[in-house]
Amino acid sequence: MNLAVFVSGRGSNLKAILDNQELKSLINLRAVCSNDSQCNALKIAESLKIDTYVVPKIQDEKEIQNLIYFLQQREIELIVLAGYLKLIPAFLVEKFENRIINIHPALLPSFGGKGMYGMNVHKAVFDSSAKVSGASVHFVNQEYDKGRIIAQRCVDISDVKSPEEIAERVLNIEHQLLPFVIKKFAQKKIKIIDNRVLILD
Ligand code: GRF
Repeated sequence: MNLAVFVSGRGSNLKAILDNQELKSLINLRAVCSNDSQCNALKIAESLKIDTYVVPKIQDEKEIQNLIYFLQQREIELIVLAGYLKLIPAFLVEKFENRIINIHPALLPSFGGKGMYGMNVHKAVFDSSAKVSGASVHFVNQEYDKGRIIAQRCVDISDVKSPEEIAERVLNIEHQLLPFVIKKFAQKKIKIIDNRVLILD
């Protein structure tokens, strides 16, 4: 399966995908795209000679067409948002319907939406005094963190003393959950039936 990963930051999820042994025979990481030409994740891709693409700030129709052309040229079958902070333009969502997924560092539908990224999420979870958090992988639609949920994993946070501790525990889970979901996509084991997303064994 040909994959494109969209990133904006440090790229630990990108690394988890690249390092996952099971994925090696299942995926071909054809492209890494970012809105930030200086981010660490893009540097990881460049050092591995993976094709990269910098998504421009102003996304007019022509720019979106250029991005779609870049993806289509590489026959991308699945787009993975791994810490990508910008909204995906409606036109791209339509072109790749049910083929764009995002990882969110909390249990959706709580603690999601605009502005809920990075430490903002973990601070909100900490302040709520929630006893569990986790990671969610969901389909991307035109609203932040609102698409149908594909898979989730929980972690006990009843004993944490800081949002940073939550972030560390959740990130650990993200690095397992995202490769797992990508593997299931590559094996064509993710189905949408009656508006629910099913993962087959
Ligand atoms: C992760 O926590 C991810 O869930 C969120 O942004 C963070 C990206 O981290 N969407 P990294 O760049 O993969 O290290």
